[in-house]
Amino acid sequence: MQDYFEQAITRDQADKLARFRDYFSNNEQLIYLDGNSLGQLPLATKKLLNQLVAEQWGERLIRGWNEQWMDLPSRLAAKIAKLVGAQPDEIFVGDSTSLNLYKLAFAALMAQKRKTKIVSDELNFPTDLYVLQGLIKQQFHHHQLLLIKSPDGISIGEEQLEKLLDNQTALLTLSHVAFKSAFMYNMKNVNELAHKKGALVIWDLSHAAGAVDLELNASGADMAVGCTYKYINGGPGASAFLYVRKDLQVQLINPIASWFGHNKPFDFDRQFQSADNIRKFGVGTPNILSMAAMEPGLDLLLEAGMPALRRKSEALSVFMLEMIQKELVPLGFSVASPMQIEKRGSHLSIQHPEAYRINRAMIEPKDTSKAIIPDFRPPDLIRMGFAPLYNRFEEMAATIQRIKNIVSLNEFERFGKEKLTVT
Ligand SMILES: Cc1ncc(COP(=O)(O)O)c(C=O)c1O
Repeated sequence: MQDYFEQAITRDQADKLARFRDYFSNNEQLIYLDGNSLGQLPLATKKLLNQLVAEQWGERLIRGWNEQWMDLPSRLAAKIAKLVGAQPDEIFVGDSTSLNLYKLAFAALMAQKRKTKIVSDELNFPTDLYVLQGLIKQQFHHHQLLLIKSPDGISIGEEQLEKLLDNQTALLTLSHVAFKSAFMYNMKNVNELAHKKGALVIWDLSHAAGAVDLELNASGADMAVGCTYKYINGGPGASAFLYVRKDLQVQLINPIASWFGHNKPFDFDRQFQSADNIRKFGVGTPNILSMAAMEPGLDLLLEAGMPALRRKSEALSVFMLEMIQKELVPLGFSVASPMQIEKRGSHLSIQHPEAYRINRAMIEPKDTSKAIIPDFRPPDLIRMGFAPLYNRFEEMAATIQRIKNIVSLNEFERFGKEKLTVT
């Protein structure tokens, strides 16, 4: 391991993004490898929220809407657009990823009324599949949901995907980066395959936004949804976003008509008249406190730039994979992520029969060493995320060293097998 620690120090010294770590709280007390689940708190967010609550809400009260808050969602949308390679008027910020997927999937199925197939894959995040199942049960009774199978539970080939697409396919919806294995589709290729069959595509970018270079416009994406509490560092339950390509916006109808999707909400007209732009996807009053919390994290990502962030994420991930193969595979671990970096998002999963208890032992060390926080995904995965704004190479080497110690000294036996609610 000594060699790896030396390499890590050299790489940290050469890291052009190293200074961004100082903009986050908490980072000397622990090694945080869960930025793919809940990103760290930017120090500027802490300050901003205090000020917003005390001054804007506390003193300005309802005047805050005209002074600051009405413009906030579109300002954030413009920043997210930059991050994902879209136009500002193609992004709506608000609601949760699940709700945004519901709205877009409903709209897409209505727009493709004569087709009855919905295609997704078995690596997709459960909420996405639940939303589709719910739509079929409640409204689209004759539709069928087909899931592309993964031969190894890690990846899916384009040829497997292509086999399920035909001219009856109304909608293809996939996570761009799979939540367990980190498998990443080639978005442009998949859009082309789907469009050849006349299917619309919705991407879930939750594990991709702020983690990989996205070019929604250039890759011909129709629609997308994503959360902002992972790599965007927006905070627990932060508002999500959706993307709809400009020329599709006219034909798609939000199934939830509400005043914030109205053309003129403050006319208080009794008759609903939809906005004719991306605002039509609004459902109710924007969640200002949570939205405001998103901006400092977005600003840091934009300042660092996605190409540089992806380069560092790749370097961290490749370094980690090399150590896993050399040091952990001999101890009974296997790699549950694609081997090629161009097929991986910004996390890595490793498999071990005692994954849950090893994960607990990493988080709750028995001595004064730093807690190391990855997460556990059933049945037997430890998932480690690389957030290039704040993770260091040295943390990667320290993590591998800790896992080696935990396993070789059976340290995980301090914990029971019953699981905590959030793992
Ligand atoms: C890929 C993916 N989609 C959707 C969700 C759920 O999003 P929300 O809770 O905002 O509906 C998650 C949550 O982790 C996710 O990882």
